[in-house]
Amino acid sequence: MKVLVTGGTGYIGSHTCIELLERGYELVVFDSLVNSSEKVVDIVKSITGKDFKFYKCDMLDADGLEQIFEDNKFDSVVHFAGLKAVGESVEMPVKYYTNNICGTLNLLRLMEKYEVRNIVFSSSATVYGDVKTVPISEDFPLSATNPYGGTKLMIENILKDLFVSDNRFSVSILRYFNPIGAHISGRLGENPRGIPNNLMPYITQVAIGKLDYLRVFGDTYPTRDGTGVRDYIHVVDLAIGHIKALEKKTGIPGVHIYNLGTGIGYSVLEILHTMEEVCKKKIPYRIVSPRAGDIAQCYADASKALLELGWKAERGLKQMCEDSWRWQSMNPNGLE
Ligand code: NAD
Ligand code: WQD
Repeated sequence: MKVLVTGGTGYIGSHTCIELLERGYELVVFDSLVNSSEKVVDIVKSITGKDFKFYKCDMLDADGLEQIFEDNKFDSVVHFAGLKAVGESVEMPVKYYTNNICGTLNLLRLMEKYEVRNIVFSSSATVYGDVKTVPISEDFPLSATNPYGGTKLMIENILKDLFVSDNRFSVSILRYFNPIGAHISGRLGENPRGIPNNLMPYITQVAIGKLDYLRVFGDTYPTRDGTGVRDYIHVVDLAIGHIKALEKKTGIPGVHIYNLGTGIGYSVLEILHTMEEVCKKKIPYRIVSPRAGDIAQCYADASKALLELGWKAERGLKQMCEDSWRWQSMNPNGLE
């Protein structure tokens, strides 16, 4: 099967490319490199021993994108490309809507024109908005609490409309919970630019001495220890979820929606203490005010993916921390 991977040098995209290549899929990858490094291309080739075509292309460049469809005939598209920083999306909504929505529309226009009718889309648990109960199943009400979440929700709706207009399409919408961890080799992992927004890269940067201490955003939530609870999922388990969606849903018309999470919630302090065990040092932290827009807890009901895709996350918290730490220690400055 020949697959186009958009945003394939990014964190989740690159790990998915490895899993695809290792299972014999033929890949074409493009990325604008706005939030990733071209070095990832060679790292993925070296880890897998497999070759693939890479295009440096911005999905807003409709002509550049069309060239990729002219050069190749795809069976399916796995669509990771997009901007993802929640805070930045509040400051720059136009940039986020333009990039994520207009970019996706360019992609879908070409998929229609070149008759590529299978897509797997990176959605997010953020589409559940301000959830009132957990665990969260796919039929929970949807809402957006920031422009980034708005783009995910709009793209989900665009994809649903696309299927209504042409019911030969197979659309898989995968709603990720909180991806962490890294490739077991330590050569590939999350490579945030500047000060990280997300918990795990922040913790590992404190542990390695690049940042002074972790700010724990609130300790009075109605959770086990008062800190926020999330469903952290190993990025390789997440990558394998995409393989399952391709295996089970390619050529099966419909809109197939799945939560990809472990179904287990861990608090900020549980993550911190597990990382302390793994890196064998104290990680300084201070409790500060809650972060605007954060919810107390968020974890998945992941039973639909198990039932319909035969997918279940296999890697536990200790391994997630070990792999994140190996990546951070081997690459103290990321790939720069
Ligand atoms: P990432 O930033 O590492 O990867 C996204 C890639 O898309 C980057 O390499 C970036 O350069 C590329 N890109 C952005 N705009 C582009 C454009 N216009 N044209 C071409 N390439 C472009 O992020 P990630 O964590 O790997 O996320 C992948 C996808 O999963 C994103 O759509 C993200 O919104 C979604 N997602 C991520 C998380 C998370 O916590 N990491 C959670 C839920 C959903
Ligand atoms: C996790 C927990 C924080 C940083 C975000 C997006 C979501 C999705 C995944 C893309 C929370 C606490 C964090 C820190 C802390 N992305 N925290 N100190 O907010 O659950 O989800 O990433 O789709 O849309 O919103 O992830 O890693 O930022 O936070 O105490 O320095 O860690 O309050 O409880 P979040 P996160």
